[in-house]
Amino acid sequence: MARAFPSGFLWGAATSAYQIEGSPLADGAGASIWHRFTHTPGMVRDGDTGDMACDHYRRMPEDVALMRELGLNAYRFSIAWPRVLPAGVGQVNQRGLDFYRRLVDALRAAGIAPVATLYHWDLPAALDDRGGWLNPDVAGWFADYAATCVRALDGIALWATVNEPWVVADQGYLRGALAPGHRSAFAAAGAAHNLLRAHAAAVDACRPFATGKLGLVVNLAPKHAASDGVDDRAAAARDDAYMNSYYLDPALLGAYPPELAAIYGEAWSERYEAEAAALKAPLDWLGVNYYTRNVVRHDPAAWPTRATPVRQRQRAHTETDWEVYPAGLAEVLRWVRRRYGELPLYVTENGAAFDDPPAAREGRIDDPLRVAYLRDHLLAVADCLAEGLDVRGYFAWSLFDNLEWAHGFSKRFGIVHVDFATQRRTVKASGRFYSQVARSNGAAIWR
Ligand code: FCB
Repeated sequence: MARAFPSGFLWGAATSAYQIEGSPLADGAGASIWHRFTHTPGMVRDGDTGDMACDHYRRMPEDVALMRELGLNAYRFSIAWPRVLPAGVGQVNQRGLDFYRRLVDALRAAGIAPVATLYHWDLPAALDDRGGWLNPDVAGWFADYAATCVRALDGIALWATVNEPWVVADQGYLRGALAPGHRSAFAAAGAAHNLLRAHAAAVDACRPFATGKLGLVVNLAPKHAASDGVDDRAAAARDDAYMNSYYLDPALLGAYPPELAAIYGEAWSERYEAEAAALKAPLDWLGVNYYTRNVVRHDPAAWPTRATPVRQRQRAHTETDWEVYPAGLAEVLRWVRRRYGELPLYVTENGAAFDDPPAAREGRIDDPLRVAYLRDHLLAVADCLAEGLDVRGYFAWSLFDNLEWAHGFSKRFGIVHVDFATQRRTVKASGRFYSQVARSNGAAIWR
C-alpha cells in the first residue's frame, strides 16, 4: 500500500487572499465585498476583519520559506481581483499584480508549484455597486480579469477559475451569511448562472495562451437519506442536485440537473436551461474541496430544497459542527468519475477546525484530532488511487489559522498556528505530520 501515491503527486496547503493577506487597500488596491462586509457591524463574529489577518501581504517571503521547510511541493493561493483591477475592470494596478509575481517567483525558487485561484469570494466592491454576480456583464468582466492574470503570471501549474460557486450563490445570495449578503432565491439562481457563465468565459478567454492547466474548484458533500423512506430519499436527491450536480452538470455536461426547476419554483428561469449548453467548457482538471457529508430528512419548511440536516450525535464533529466522515471523500471522488468520466482530480481543500490546546511546551502545539482527521482523509485518497482514480494532488486547508469568513478568527483550520497579536507562526503537530507525509510522498500516513 505504501506505494499508492504516484510520483509527482502534489502535496500542498491552501489559503485564500482575503483570509490571510491583510493590508487589503495597500498599494492602490480597491475594496472588495469582503472588506465592506467585515466592516459592517454584526456580519462577522467579534467584529473581526481582514485588515491584518495573517499579515501575509507583508510577510510573504518568510511564509514561503516556512512552506519550504515543511517540504510542501505545491501551494494553492488566490489572487485578489481588486488588487489587480481596483475598479474590477479597466486600469490594471501594477503594484497589485507585482505582489503575486513576487509570490510566484518565490514559490518557484523554493521548488513549490504555484496553484492559483482567480476568484475566492473577494469581488471588487466597485462591481458589486453595478450588481456584482447579478449583472450579466460579470461574465465578461471576469474573463478580462482572468486573461490579465494568466498573461501576466508565468509559471502557474494550475489555474482555477472560481472557488466553490455553490457557496457564493447559496451563502452570499440566498442566505445572506457571507458577502455580499443577499437573501433571495431569485438572486441565488441568477448569481449561480452568472458564476457558471463567468467560469466558461474565462476558460474560453485564457485557453489560447494559458501555459498552466485550467480548472474549476467545487465543494462536494455526499447527501445521505436519514431513512429508507421515499420522502427522505427524495429530499437527499434534491439536496444532492442543489449542491453537487448544480455546478458540475452545466460545466462538464452542458445541462442543469432537472431537479433545480422544482427546487427554485418561480425563482427558476427557463433562460438558464436554454443557455446551459454554453456553460460547458473543456477542463484540464477539477478541484474538489471536501469537509463533511450531510444526512438529511424531508422537511417541507426547509428552504429551498425541503431537506434538513440531521445531526449524527453518535459521531465526532469539528468546531464548525461538521461531522468527521472520511469515507465521504472517496465517495465524492468516485461519484465524479462515475458521472463525468475521466478527468485529473485534485483534492484542493480538506481540513478541520478544532480548538487547539494551549502550547504544551514552548513552540509545541499538539492537535491530535487534526492529525487524525488528515490521516484518515489521506487514507481515503489512497483507497481511490488503489482503485485507479486519477487523483494528482492534495491540499490541506489551511496552511495557517486565518479569517474563517463570518466566524472571524474563532475557528482555527491551520496546520500552522498563528498568534494574531504577535503574528508568530508555530507549526502544529498536524503541520509536522503533514510535512512527513509530503516528504515521504504519502508513506508516513501508514506509519
Ligand atoms: C471552504 C472555503 C475556504 C475555507 C474552508 C473552511 O468552503 O473555500 O475558504 O473557509 O471552507
